[in-house]
Amino acid sequence: MSSVSPATTPQAAQREVASCREDFPALHQQINGHPLVYLDSAASSQQPAVVIDAIAEYQRHAHANVHRGVHTLSHRATDLYEGARDDIAAFLNAASRREIVFTSGTTEGINLVAQSFCRPKLAAGQRIVISHLEHHSNIVPWQLVCEQTGAELVVAPINERGEVLLDELYDLLDERVTLLAISHVSNALGTVLPLGEIISTAHRRNIPVLVDGAQAAPHLALDMQTLDADFYALSGHKMFGPTGIGVLYAKEQLLDAMPPWKGGGDMILEVRFSGTVYNELPYKFEAGTPNIAGAAGLGATVRYLNKFGMERIASHEKDLLDYLTSSLQKLDGIRLFGTAANKASVQSFLIDDIHPHDLGTILDHQGIAIRTGHHCAMPVMEFFGLPGTARASLGMYNNRDDVDRLIGGLSKAAELFR
Ligand SMILES: Cc1ncc(COP(=O)(O)O)c(C=O)c1O
Repeated sequence: MSSVSPATTPQAAQREVASCREDFPALHQQINGHPLVYLDSAASSQQPAVVIDAIAEYQRHAHANVHRGVHTLSHRATDLYEGARDDIAAFLNAASRREIVFTSGTTEGINLVAQSFCRPKLAAGQRIVISHLEHHSNIVPWQLVCEQTGAELVVAPINERGEVLLDELYDLLDERVTLLAISHVSNALGTVLPLGEIISTAHRRNIPVLVDGAQAAPHLALDMQTLDADFYALSGHKMFGPTGIGVLYAKEQLLDAMPPWKGGGDMILEVRFSGTVYNELPYKFEAGTPNIAGAAGLGATVRYLNKFGMERIASHEKDLLDYLTSSLQKLDGIRLFGTAANKASVQSFLIDDIHPHDLGTILDHQGIAIRTGHHCAMPVMEFFGLPGTARASLGMYNNRDDVDRLIGGLSKAAELFR
């Protein structure tokens, strides 16, 4: 699908999704004798052929180390790697390519901020604020840095719908807070947080904000200059790109003032035993040989997403999430978790007292992939008093047939247990 004009009618939107599905080879296979229905994109989404091809093309014709070589392959590798950075800077509307640090994923980006930005500032009496909705990757790095420094980790509460209680969050944002670290979209419940309001409130109190954008990047249009987050972390494999590559966006003046986190090659200008001069941004934060193939793949990913436009992807997914939720609600014995007013692409649920792993296994026998368990958000599960849930999550390539197959599969599973 190469047009950028809006898909104006439901039929046009359907045709667009049908053509998009053709781009994803993994969707066209049989699993346990059934055509695959992939509803686990929040864990890892599938990749279009253009991304797979971009990685293969790098491996076949451009594989060499970046930045250092004078030979042609090294130039090709560098062009691919740095070209991807430019494409991602544009995709995020960052003010500068110096604000785009390649990481291995969201987890590494958050750890970088915890260790480089926060650790030197933290001491007993100071606080990091997070919410009860967070993924473990936006909890444990803060626990570690608090243990290292004597600072305190404080958690803003949520309600039964899975929304952060904003008044309670704002009450926590006082002069003791070094950073607010919060998700854009919850991976367990699908809640979309009102980040514009949260970030401007934190900034009025001089508190910088890190956003865990792992679940937003595949679903929402992102504009760093409008959002005004200080740090924004995302992962390639959640947004139809490869694993092992991600991005930490950070405001240039913050990155400039931060010490390097990891030491090694590429992050230096000069090394002497008497001392080292660090490289300019963003290389100061990219120690060692990077994931060049991953970056080439991620560049191809954002170019692919641009062909559709994130607004159109968001609108398609919103319709489909409404259809998924209303279809699930018709099932006997269904319990939905995550019913926030503003949601994206994820629905957690249970049926009767059937164990979610049993639901997931029975669905897999029918070729339907969902996620079951605690979704790396054990505090969210604890809030609902559950060990885990079943979770269906949508990507740009899913359609109503996928939802209908899920509902049919769940009805079968429920029959087996009744
Ligand atoms: C909200 C959220 N944050 C962080 C992560 C961690 O991402 P990664 O494992 O790619 O670092 C995930 C992955 O599930 C996530 O959903």
